[in-house]
Amino acid sequence: MKTSVCIIGGGPSGLMLSQLLHLQGIETVVLERQSREYVLSRIRAGVLEHGFAELMREAQCGERMDREGEIHEGFIIAHNGRQSRVDLHKYSGGSSVVVYGQTELTRDLYEARDRMNGIVIHNAEDVQPHDLTGTPYVTYRQGDEIVRIDCDYVIGADGFHGVSRKSIPKTVLKEYEKVYPFGWLGVLSRTKPVSPELIYARHERGFALCSLRSQVLSRYYVQVPLSDSVEDWSDERFWEELKRRLPEDVAGRLITGPSIEKSIAPLRSFVAEPMRYGNLFLAGDAAHIVPPTGARGLNSAASDIYYLYHALVDHYKKGDDNGLGNYSAKALARVWKAQRFSWWMTTMLHTFPDSLPYDQKLQQTDLDYLFSSEAAQRSLAENYVGLPF
Ligand code: APR
Ligand code: PHB
Repeated sequence: MKTSVCIIGGGPSGLMLSQLLHLQGIETVVLERQSREYVLSRIRAGVLEHGFAELMREAQCGERMDREGEIHEGFIIAHNGRQSRVDLHKYSGGSSVVVYGQTELTRDLYEARDRMNGIVIHNAEDVQPHDLTGTPYVTYRQGDEIVRIDCDYVIGADGFHGVSRKSIPKTVLKEYEKVYPFGWLGVLSRTKPVSPELIYARHERGFALCSLRSQVLSRYYVQVPLSDSVEDWSDERFWEELKRRLPEDVAGRLITGPSIEKSIAPLRSFVAEPMRYGNLFLAGDAAHIVPPTGARGLNSAASDIYYLYHALVDHYKKGDDNGLGNYSAKALARVWKAQRFSWWMTTMLHTFPDSLPYDQKLQQTDLDYLFSSEAAQRSLAENYVGLPF
C-alpha cells in the first residue's frame, strides 16, 4: 500500500487529522490496534475547549456536537463550605467550553471517515514504523499477513502506550514525568446531574468532581488512593463518599442510581521531547499526558493536530516546510502551558498524603487569592477555555 501520511492510532487525534487532511485532498491511512467497538466503549472526559470545538466544525464533524453538546460559561469550585463560581465567559473575553463526551466525538469522527471512504484499518497488530530518518514505511500484521505501507510521513497518534514514541532512539528522546499519589474513581450513571454546571470540590477527605454528559447522564469522580481497586467500591460506598465531600445542599439534592461504568484512572503528568524525529511526528497522548483536573487532555491534543494539519497542507500545497520544521517547538510551547495549568489545578484541589501543614495553608491561600482577584480568575478562565493555538 502507498499513502502520503500514515497515521498510527485511531483515537480522536488520529481521526481528526485524517479527516482534516482528507478535506484538503491529502491521502491518509489510519492504523488502529483495537476494534472500533472497543475504541467506542472507552469512557473519557467530556469538556471540549472552544478551539477544539472549532476544529470539529472545520472537519465537518460538528453537527451533532452543536446539537447535543452543552455550552458552559462557568463552573463551581466548592471549598471550605463555600461555593465560588468561575465565570469563564466574563473572564475569557466571551469564550466558553462545550460539554460533549469524548466517546461521542470519536463516534462522529469515525462516521465522517466512513462517509468519505477514509481508510481506517482496525485490529492492526504489531504496527511498526521503519526508516524514519530516510524514506519511511510502516508494517502491521493482520492474521498471518504482514502488510507494508509506504508513505512520506508517519504520525504517531497512538496514545501513551503506543509504539511511535518508543521508535525514537533513547539518545534523542527526553521524557519528563510526574506521577501523583492518587487516582480518580469515576462513575457514570443514568441520573439527572446534580448541578447544571460542573462542581470541582476540594475536601479534606479528598477531591470530588460532579460532571455530566447530558441532562440524563451524570459523571462523578472521587479521589482515591492508588492502592484501591474498583472492587473496593460498591455503588453504595461511592455515593456515600461523594456526598461527604460535597457541600451539604449539593449532597442533599444528589440523585443516585446504579453505575453503568466505574473505573479508576491514575493521575499522571508526562511530556516527551522532541515531538519530531525525522519523518515521524508525535501528536496527542503519544507525546504528553495531563491529569484530568483542568480538562486539558483532548485539548492539548487539539493544538498538535492544528499545527500538524497546517504544516502538512503547507508542505503538500505550497512546498513550504517551515511548519514541519517548527512543529515540535511550537507544539511543546503550548503543551507545557497546559501541563502547568493542569498541575496547578491538581495541586490546589487534591489532598496529598504527605503534605505538610504549610502546604495545606498554601492550598487554601491559592483559593482565597483566586476568588479575591479578578486577575487570578482571568488567568484561570483563559487557560480553562484554552489558550490560543
Ligand atoms: N498500533 C496502533 N494503534 C495503537 C497502538 C499501536 N501500537 N497503540 C495504541 N493504539 C491506539 C489505541 O488503541 C487508541 O485508540 O491509538 C489510539 C490512541 O488514542 P488515545 O489514547 O485516545 O489518544 P489521542 O487520540 O491522542 O487522544 C487524546 O485521549 O487519553 C485521552 O484524555 C486524553 O483526551 C485525550 C485524548
Ligand atoms: C468529565 O466529565 O469526565 C470531566 C470533566 C472535567 C474534568 C475532568 C473530567 O476536569
